[in-house]
Amino acid sequence: MTIDQIKESLCFKHLYSQECLSRGSSPIKTTMKYFLDPEFHFLGAGMPPLELFGFQNFQFQTFDMGSYKLNEIPEATINNNIRLMTGDISRDEQDYDIEIAQALQYGNSRGHPALLKFLKEHIDSMFQVSRVYSDWDILINNGSTFGLESCLRVFCNRGDTILLEDLCYSSTVEAIEAQGINHVPIKMDSNGIVVEDLAHKLSNWDTLYSNIPKPKLMYVIPNGHNPKGTTLKDTRKVEIYRLLQKYDIVLLEDDPYFWLQMPDYVKYEDPELEVFENKKQFFAKLSKSFLSIDTDGRVLRFESFSKYFGPGVRLGYVVGSKKILDNLWNYHEVSLQASSGISQLMINGCLNRWGQDGFVNWFMRLRTTYTQKRNFCLNTLYKSIDTFNINEFITVEKAPQAGMFFMIYLNITKHRDYSTNLIKYGKNGISDYYENLFFEKFVEAKLLLAKGSWFKVKDPNYDVCSLDSCMLRGTYAAVTPEKMTKGLEIMCTIIKEEFK
Ligand SMILES: Cc1ncc(COP(=O)(O)O)c(C=O)c1O
Repeated sequence: MTIDQIKESLCFKHLYSQECLSRGSSPIKTTMKYFLDPEFHFLGAGMPPLELFGFQNFQFQTFDMGSYKLNEIPEATINNNIRLMTGDISRDEQDYDIEIAQALQYGNSRGHPALLKFLKEHIDSMFQVSRVYSDWDILINNGSTFGLESCLRVFCNRGDTILLEDLCYSSTVEAIEAQGINHVPIKMDSNGIVVEDLAHKLSNWDTLYSNIPKPKLMYVIPNGHNPKGTTLKDTRKVEIYRLLQKYDIVLLEDDPYFWLQMPDYVKYEDPELEVFENKKQFFAKLSKSFLSIDTDGRVLRFESFSKYFGPGVRLGYVVGSKKILDNLWNYHEVSLQASSGISQLMINGCLNRWGQDGFVNWFMRLRTTYTQKRNFCLNTLYKSIDTFNINEFITVEKAPQAGMFFMIYLNITKHRDYSTNLIKYGKNGISDYYENLFFEKFVEAKLLLAKGSWFKVKDPNYDVCSLDSCMLRGTYAAVTPEKMTKGLEIMCTIIKEEFK
């Protein structure tokens, strides 16, 4: 198919919320083109004057990713021998930089053109969106948390329904519940969403969930799932997408851990770090995005700089059909207005100095570093379990292939007082009882693991309770080897004491 034959996205207006339909676009934003025209006598909008802006120059220091070759990165990471570079935004006068006057001014609520251009090229080279439908676009926002909240507002009225994985990032669940939206959990296994469960629930909706509307949206965390650490198999994505088409559902793909993908973990091994000769080889190792198969424009993908540059930059973007993004844009106009011009200026300055290849080098560096962290964590975890001889009391989730989380399950039926506690707390309370018990004992010993129940998605029809295990989530992202070793030793000591 040639580019001219690629069709436009479908229209999803029939799924929009009342709030979205009653919100128009801001008239003032249509005047921005005049403001940017130096010939214009622009008396039309309340903009403060440049000479009164607090900053006149921005300088930053970053890693010099542009000058590395892909296959040099692992070497540089091992020796921590990453060169630094300085960017000086007003003095360098690069035409790709965002002008300070524009960065600090109102306007550009869609995102600064230079940054939009860089990111669009990056996304297309990665996911080939231009090959699936023609009118795709991106919209800069303040990160995925805002991305989700704004999509809920565009699509959902109170009482509408969204499908979630049966464990889910807790802020997502809170945002959904706060807007009075129903959620229905879909089962997951070690390879992500169980397609049969999704198909079963959708095809039997009227009998299973007769009291709530059919879902308009589905939300997934495909790589390095938070909290489960799992990665959704690419083959399942195609099957899931077909179901979304059949039941007319829009997909929210929240993928902050995409670039934290790692090679498979092999127990106790610390293999040589991978070396890639070119980008193609590296990209071939990565999962697909739903964007690559989305011929309808029913996928909205949330990208975030939080895990690649630091959560404090509060910058992300949504990729999807322009028709839908225009509605998100209208919401931006009355909420965040625009994402921080300073963050955009800094990120844009850094990315354009690196170039597209340097950006990929950066992701390669993340992969190498995260692989080392994950391998150290899991090797230490398995060694501790062996040393303390507690294998029968603990199950470790399939090793993460992306992201920063690992999950363990305590086999509570093996606990010495399980039968007594089951009578005391009942089948609805037994898992919570043990979760609290271990959480508190760990905290007393100065160890923090997140409780699995914080992430459980309730089904409106029944309580999903576990009788045989309780879950705990750990992370290796920002933990030193010393703290990891000591933390896991504390964990195993307490498990041994409790279960023996
Ligand atoms: C699945 C998921 N989505 C979103 C976020 C938050 O992203 P952001 O900082 O871009 O709002 C997190 C952070 O932990 C997350 O795990």
